[in-house]
Amino acid sequence: MNPENRLVGAETDGEDADEQAVEAALRPKQLGEFIGQPKVREQLDLVLRAARARGGTADHVLLSGAPGLGKTTLSMIIAAEMGAPIRITSGPAIQHAGDLAAILSSLQEGEVLFLDEIHRMSRPAEEMLYMAMEDFRVDVIVGKGPGATAIPLELPPFTLVGATTRAGLLPPPLRDRFGFTAHMEFYEPAELEQVVHRSAQLLEVHTDPAGAVEIAGRSRGTPRIANRLLRRVRDYAQVKGDGVITRETAAAALEVYEVDARGLDRLDRAVLGALLKLFGGGPVGLSTLAVAVGEERETVEEVAEPFLVREGLLARTPRGRVATPAAWAHMGLTPPQQPSGPSGSSSAAPGGPGQPGLFGA
Ligand SMILES: Nc1ncnc2c1ncn2[C@@H]1O[C@H](COP(=O)(O)OP(=O)(O)OP(=O)(O)O)[C@@H](O)[C@H]1O
Ligand SMILES: [Mg+2]
Repeated sequence: MNPENRLVGAETDGEDADEQAVEAALRPKQLGEFIGQPKVREQLDLVLRAARARGGTADHVLLSGAPGLGKTTLSMIIAAEMGAPIRITSGPAIQHAGDLAAILSSLQEGEVLFLDEIHRMSRPAEEMLYMAMEDFRVDVIVGKGPGATAIPLELPPFTLVGATTRAGLLPPPLRDRFGFTAHMEFYEPAELEQVVHRSAQLLEVHTDPAGAVEIAGRSRGTPRIANRLLRRVRDYAQVKGDGVITRETAAAALEVYEVDARGLDRLDRAVLGALLKLFGGGPVGLSTLAVAVGEERETVEEVAEPFLVREGLLARTPRGRVATPAAWAHMGLTPPQQPSGPSGSSSAAPGGPGQPGLFGA
């Protein structure tokens, strides 16, 4: 399988113009329409209200959080709420400090500059950004070698909105220059239900409350995934049913797409299944596990495991990967008998007798 194109992948496929168009159409435009993240919404609301009341520009904002949680959406909301234009660029697009200087010097007063993947900017650009953020000034270097001179250039006040999935990779001097940092959390199922209802309304597809519950529960805490699953379920409901999304159509559709009740897909289930059935729940090394499911080490480690760990189904230990009791329950399997000594707490030994399916997978 190509892990890039997973239905439950939180990243977007940059090539998929269809998905981008739908995402744009489904983006909340105002803070009041933005679902969930109550802390972030409240804090941001204060920052923006205060700036509007002063008639100034808002402080620089850093948005940190996993893919698909709404960082790009919030950046656009910030601009809309400030009645300001927005310029969108990204860390990888800024190769040289000169690229950044060109962007900064063409900003209008009050404009929002959205810098996506800010942790991937080059070091010289980063240093130019420090000064721009703090003093609204850049030094443009003219010439090379000993004859080079720095020409200071005043910038109009602007609001930088940086987004990152890896806040830990940001150098502290950069992090410190943001007036406000929003940490986006994964969404609660009830919030994702609201996302599903809102999107269903925009897509003009009738969704039962129970249908929304079913989709929300499989969306891994991520609105982008909820919207994607909704579209697949809609297709199914149109082809196989009367177009209405009920609990039954949602469950049947997502069974076709191999997304289980907890949002695990084929790869996730293959990894868990191998860990449980072939290795008695572990501990087993990553390489062995990867061979057992016929995938690359990296695929197992970077694509499947993060969600399994987050869900408390799998643990990474110094001795290898270990399944938790929740993993056995979720896969409908019985864990091997624990050796019941007086301490009663030793972990299951790999390869012990009486393990289910040891030779049967
Ligand atoms: N709070 C929300 N309410 C409703 N819809 C949301 C919310 N957050 C995100 N979405 C929807 O989820 C999709 C993805 O959001 P967005 O593109 O803002 O995520 P992101 O954090 O920028 O992801 P990435 O890290 O991949 O850039 C959008 O289509 C948007 O409509
Ligand atoms: Mg984004």
